[in-house]
Amino acid sequence: MSTTLDFADPALYENPVPVFNAMREENPVHWSDAAGSWIISRHADVVSVLNNLEEAHASLYKINDYAQQCPFGKGTAIARGIEGALVTTDLPDHPRLRRHTAPLLTPRAVERDYADIVEKTVISLLDDLEADTEFDVLDSISVPLPLAVVTKLIGYEPEDALQLNHWAIDLTRSLEPHLESIDLELSDAAAQNLEDHLRDALRTFGPTAEPGTVLYKLHRGLEEGTLLSEQEAVIRLEELVSAGTETTTTIIPAAFEAMTQFPHVWEELKADPELIPGAAEEFLRFASPSPFTARVAISDIVLGDQAIKAGESIQLAILAANRDPRVFTDPDVLDIHRSPNPHITFGGGIHACLGQHLARLEMRTLLKHAVSRWDSFEVATDRVVRRDRIGVWGYSAFPMTVRDRVG
Ligand code: HEM
Repeated sequence: MSTTLDFADPALYENPVPVFNAMREENPVHWSDAAGSWIISRHADVVSVLNNLEEAHASLYKINDYAQQCPFGKGTAIARGIEGALVTTDLPDHPRLRRHTAPLLTPRAVERDYADIVEKTVISLLDDLEADTEFDVLDSISVPLPLAVVTKLIGYEPEDALQLNHWAIDLTRSLEPHLESIDLELSDAAAQNLEDHLRDALRTFGPTAEPGTVLYKLHRGLEEGTLLSEQEAVIRLEELVSAGTETTTTIIPAAFEAMTQFPHVWEELKADPELIPGAAEEFLRFASPSPFTARVAISDIVLGDQAIKAGESIQLAILAANRDPRVFTDPDVLDIHRSPNPHITFGGGIHACLGQHLARLEMRTLLKHAVSRWDSFEVATDRVVRRDRIGVWGYSAFPMTVRDRVG
């Protein structure tokens, strides 16, 4: 078993867990030529890097002056998107920018403003499914659900929401740790299209947006000067569409795939839906949709027995940390009773995922309705297709059949 990542090996994309596990045990802090980065894989080390951001680490690429070194080329739409994103923005700008969206996504705001829309969307999507007839979970549930929620959050109804999803898929390819494998033109075109579309939405709907929507907050931010340019507002929208769709789109089928491996979990959830919140956390730990996040060292640091120099890039292997036996008993077992469950699927520190409460709400609501309607489900595992990517992984096909509960 290799103890570093071989990005040319298709097995890595089919099932990354064995190699991530081996890497964490035998090579927990190592330099990868292929990624041009250190790869950190133990839970304690990843958490320490996430939390010591202000002291020791800046966000991805910033310290290296991304615009100068950008592998995509200075001035491209991808470079603008990456450079302007919250996740790559350091203090002092980060809190100023995050304030334009964060108040809409607190646990309380999410429950108050989105429980109803998520519930209605889930019911309508599940109503459209026919028992004993195969459907694709992506087309039928896990693509439309987060898209409906994100566009509601932003505050407009795009004519072609699916187009946003296609752009998000192509754009998030640029988050691969192994940049050479990326189709740069495709990613850049997607970033440009998304940027143009969202700028139009901001200009068209911003002035009349409803309070409580992102468009309203951004429009106010531009008027009041808390946003310094229209571009800052457009990137806020771009990051919500790209971060808020593909990740949630992936975790839903990933949960069903995990339950085919551990079928008793479905039976337990049917018998006791109170277990759903704990189960959702465990699905998130077990099948983290973002296996990596990244930082750059801003001072010389020692992690494990390795010296990392200021300016060097660091990939944090969330997927490996979430399976660290030093923190999780029997980490390769899907245990919905796990408590505590300190997974780091949503990152941590000042960059902790902004949409995590929304993602949880979507998962829990879907599971609640699925277990109340369906007696059983069957995944056509031989026809499940995973995308060949590891930055934000995902599926391109997930065929499934369900049998309704009787009575
Ligand atoms: C299962 C679903 C999701 C997963 C696994 C996920 C994962 C992550 C991760 C790993 C980070 C980076 C944390 C870091 O580097 O410290 C992040 C940041 C972020 N996520 Fe999510 N995410 C999910 C859903 C969402 C949703 C639904 C939204 C928006 C509606 C969203 C918006 C964001 C934003 C804006 C950031 C940047 C935050 C910052 O840098 O301050 N995410 N997410």
